[in-house]
Amino acid sequence: MVQKSAIKFWIVVLLVFFCSWGLAQTPFTAEQGKELYDNYCQACHGEDMVNPGAVSYDLRKFPKDGKSRFLESVNNGKNGMPSWKGVIALDDMERLWLYVLTKGK
Ligand code: HEC
Repeated sequence: MVQKSAIKFWIVVLLVFFCSWGLAQTPFTAEQGKELYDNYCQACHGEDMVNPGAVSYDLRKFPKDGKSRFLESVNNGKNGMPSWKGVIALDDMERLWLYVLTKGK
């Protein structure tokens, strides 16, 4: 017969395991992306991605399936757009991408 204390022991082990697993995962959210956007991108791309003029790209129109193009352009820059390599961490670019997917809503 299995000892009750052994069952308790394994329940605790599992709880600790799942809790630490949850902590280790840093969730990427569009809200974090918006903060980064406000700091780095808003000046050219406009508040809430509403384009202030015709100069910079309207990010609300960026194709949803264009993640690799997004990362490529943000990393290396494009024409009037500076390169963000070394300025913005890759993880933060992922967050920015989540924000762009919301189309500013
Ligand atoms: C100094 C002004 C400026 C800033 C700051 C800026 N951009 Fe841009 N961005 C531009 C311009 C200008 C273009 C249009 C480039 C072109 O296609 O000629 C552009 C284009 C883009 C594009 C479209 C690229 C493509 O593949 O067509 C993306 C995506 C983009 N910007 C993302 C960002 C993000 C994310 C940030 C913040 C980290 C940012 N930009 C900050 C000026 C800026």
